[in-house]
Amino acid sequence: MKLGVCYYPEHWPRERWRGDAEHMRSIGITVVRIGEFAWSQLEPAQGDYRFAWLVEAIDTLHAAGLEVVVGTPTACPPKWLVDQHPEIMPVGEDGRVRGFGSRRHYDFSSLRYRELCRGIVTRLADAVGSHPGVVAWQTDNEYGCHDTIASYSPAAVAAFRQWCAAQYKTVDALNTAWGNDFWSLNYPDFDSIEAPAGTVTETSPAHRLAWWRFSSDQVVQFNREQVGILRERSPGRDLMHNYMGNFTAFDHHAVARDLDVAGWDNYPLGFLDRDAATESDRLRWLRTGHPDDSAFHHDLYRGLGHAQAGRWWLVEQQPGPVNWAAHNAAPLDGMLRLWGLEAAAHGAELCSVFRYRQQPRAQEQFHAGVLLPDGSEAPAADELRALDANLKRLGALDATGQAPIALVFDYDGQAALESAPQGANASPLDAAKDWYRALRAAGQSVDILPPDAPFEGYLLVLLVNSAVLSDAMIERLDASGATVIATARTGSFDGDCAIPDNLAPGALQRVLPLRVIQVESLPDAVFEPVACDGGLNAWRWRERVDSELPARARFADGWGFHYCRGNWHYVNARLDPESCTRFVAARLVELGLPVTRCEGGLRLRQRGDRVFAFNYGPDVVELPHDGPFELGTKHLAVADVAVWRCNA
Ligand code: GAL
Repeated sequence: MKLGVCYYPEHWPRERWRGDAEHMRSIGITVVRIGEFAWSQLEPAQGDYRFAWLVEAIDTLHAAGLEVVVGTPTACPPKWLVDQHPEIMPVGEDGRVRGFGSRRHYDFSSLRYRELCRGIVTRLADAVGSHPGVVAWQTDNEYGCHDTIASYSPAAVAAFRQWCAAQYKTVDALNTAWGNDFWSLNYPDFDSIEAPAGTVTETSPAHRLAWWRFSSDQVVQFNREQVGILRERSPGRDLMHNYMGNFTAFDHHAVARDLDVAGWDNYPLGFLDRDAATESDRLRWLRTGHPDDSAFHHDLYRGLGHAQAGRWWLVEQQPGPVNWAAHNAAPLDGMLRLWGLEAAAHGAELCSVFRYRQQPRAQEQFHAGVLLPDGSEAPAADELRALDANLKRLGALDATGQAPIALVFDYDGQAALESAPQGANASPLDAAKDWYRALRAAGQSVDILPPDAPFEGYLLVLLVNSAVLSDAMIERLDASGATVIATARTGSFDGDCAIPDNLAPGALQRVLPLRVIQVESLPDAVFEPVACDGGLNAWRWRERVDSELPARARFADGWGFHYCRGNWHYVNARLDPESCTRFVAARLVELGLPVTRCEGGLRLRQRGDRVFAFNYGPDVVELPHDGPFELGTKHLAVADVAVWRCNA
């Protein structure tokens, strides 16, 4: 794994560039990402291209021995462009045009904007695409950041109408699929179809799912246009996009198919503050980030690069406090090194810190960097040195290899569940993470796969959001010989977000004869106990099942819990996190997989024959290994990492 940094030469006098580059090298950095917000410096007025400074910056970085990743600048259209083409601006769900003055102010459906993007990307690729220092490209920056996938503009609505016509062929088919007889919502023709926004109360789930799919397709098209230009004009370079954390507003697998490497941006403390499922989690992991969240995303995004042998980069790593959460705590000393080694354990080719020098001005002035605004080192610099030394000590790492367990992540299924949530606290993403966390609490390494991945070789496959399930998927899973645990809501929709003709779990009934005859969502304070696996609590979601199969246990009110036949299991409730952990551990034992209970803040990840152990907790932990150690010791300090060979 290489170390990298995000750098903005356009923010600093060119006299500093050489010293910056040399300093980067001195702390172990070998890769620099630049340029992704620099449109107004690259083209300050229409047609007035200024690439010389960028070439000089790349020359300087390259001369210092750094590899350069160039971002296309399309996340920030400049003011002259916006003034000349106001129609490129996105429109919010409230019908208001989103204004100039921050970033990501564009509409994926604007054909004018796409043309302008093709223009700048072409020029940029011609200017620097054959530079020997340029090793890769990043397309745009964080598609969807600040809630920018969907736009409710006239251009988007026009494109949606065309999309619907291509999808449904006849308006009658669309009306049927969306259930438009209900509330008298039938559309007379495709030209009259609306975006699902601004209505008195909710729109049809099928309408919302169609809108999600359409908006996702717009991102794929937008990205593909840049990919086509870069492949042609800058051959031999890796193409990458930097995705975000906890984000499901488009089908990342579909975007990833056009790229070479999946990138993602990891802000463990920012995400915890913004997205933690519970207040107690928010406090408990305040200075470390949730111990499973970075890992979850590493595995998710490694799976995105599935078709490209799992290639993935950590493109932006939080180096200290961020600026954008409600509370912006400082990480514990040692965490940047730990986060970096966690990325290495999950197969990252690059761990790149955001940003190099903290900016004294503008929106992110309090966001930490490797350097302070005055140019002296921030705490992150020494952590990078330590990380670099650790990586050198470990030497070459084996390929990540295939884990024994796979969790299938289905963006389309996720969108269907979000379109028809049937409960305010039924977040399907949190539910998916609970299953992942339970596996990690048992010391397991997990692959997170797209639904079309091969399942051969896995002992256990979990379906956590496969709400739209095809017969073909069932057949592929069945043929793999893996044990499959399908969790609540699997197969609960047909392709248009309707309850399947044969009821949930739809196609799963081929292998498990059961029908879901009632579902309930419950307030957080309600627990429905069931006496099995040492005592479990259903929480937030439960289903009543009718089946000829015997339930493995029953709730107090007689509802069955957990059905299985052969290799197939159906779990008809969401479990509270501790119950989920117990349930998963019991299944692993049944499967003969070795379970290492990871208590406190201990977490494990295997890569090749090396085991990495991480201590995210507040106390020293005793490791399940006596040595020898390549890093760390049996009694692992807070925020420390140990590595050993499992065959040693
Ligand atoms: C990311 C973004 C960066 C920077 C960073 C701050 O979402 O890609 O440009 O804004 O957050 O944490």
